[in-house]
Amino acid sequence: MSKVIAFAGKGGVGKTTVASLVIRYMSASGKSPVLAVDADPNSNLGETIGLEVPKTIGDIRETYMKDPQGIPSGMDKINYLQLLVEQALIERPTFDLLVMGRQEGQGCYCMVNNILNNFTDKLSAHYKYMIVDNEAGMEHLSRRTSGRVDMLYLVTDYSLRGLRAVRRIHTMLKGLKLDVKNLAIVVTRGPEKLSDAFLAEVAEIGLPIAGVIPNDAALLEFDMERRSLLELPDDSLSVLAVKKLMDEQCPVL
Ligand SMILES: Nc1ncnc2c1ncn2[C@@H]1O[C@H](COP(=O)(O)OP(=O)(O)OP(=O)(O)O)[C@@H](O)[C@H]1O
Ligand SMILES: [Mg+2]
Repeated sequence: MSKVIAFAGKGGVGKTTVASLVIRYMSASGKSPVLAVDADPNSNLGETIGLEVPKTIGDIRETYMKDPQGIPSGMDKINYLQLLVEQALIERPTFDLLVMGRQEGQGCYCMVNNILNNFTDKLSAHYKYMIVDNEAGMEHLSRRTSGRVDMLYLVTDYSLRGLRAVRRIHTMLKGLKLDVKNLAIVVTRGPEKLSDAFLAEVAEIGLPIAGVIPNDAALLEFDMERRSLLELPDDSLSVLAVKKLMDEQCPVL
């Protein structure tokens, strides 16, 4: 079974950035095979790591639902959907990417969703690691990962508001059918020394801080130039911080 590493947290705190840097780390350190999953309906993980995403699982669902009879002759529904999922998988030498895209619209999509979830589950079994970039909500995590997450990083920026979102997600997790093996906080754009007020709030939440990613001007520069974060130099502040995080605080590697 693949080891699932996932990221959750408030909007805009840096989940996709950290997920991209973890994909970069996995490639650089020869940890493979990796399946990266963009589980955010406003998907942008592909863009951050410099990949064109021609088709998402959401697109497949829509195409199929628009014309359920349009199955090529000689194929049944299951083979056809499987073929479409295989086409949506973006393959790279060191990792593959699957983009989930929009969630279901109106109408009953249960049957198609079940088939698609079944395929994505089967597909993920071929990988040693799965890196899942989430939307701010947590609902989909339980569906996307067969209910198990080996390492869940709750990402927050260096603010008490970000931490409050971490606290909410932490509380919400208890009500979800999700088996989280390891749980820790990652602080983005944090200073070298975290303030007492911040640490006091963290202590109340009762979760460890696995790592602090400093403010890295190179990230803004790459964003502006639409460059892939996989091309960041080895000595970038954020690359070094994610290396430390994964080397020291990722018990599933
Ligand atoms: N450590 C950092 N230093 C500087 N800028 C950063 C850092 N982390 C993230 N950013 C910037 O913050 C912005 C938001 O980051 P990102 O898209 O990763 O957040 P997100 O949590 O995935 O957002 P969303 O909830 O919209 O998916 C980006 O422009 C990114 O370049
Ligand atoms: Mg994101």
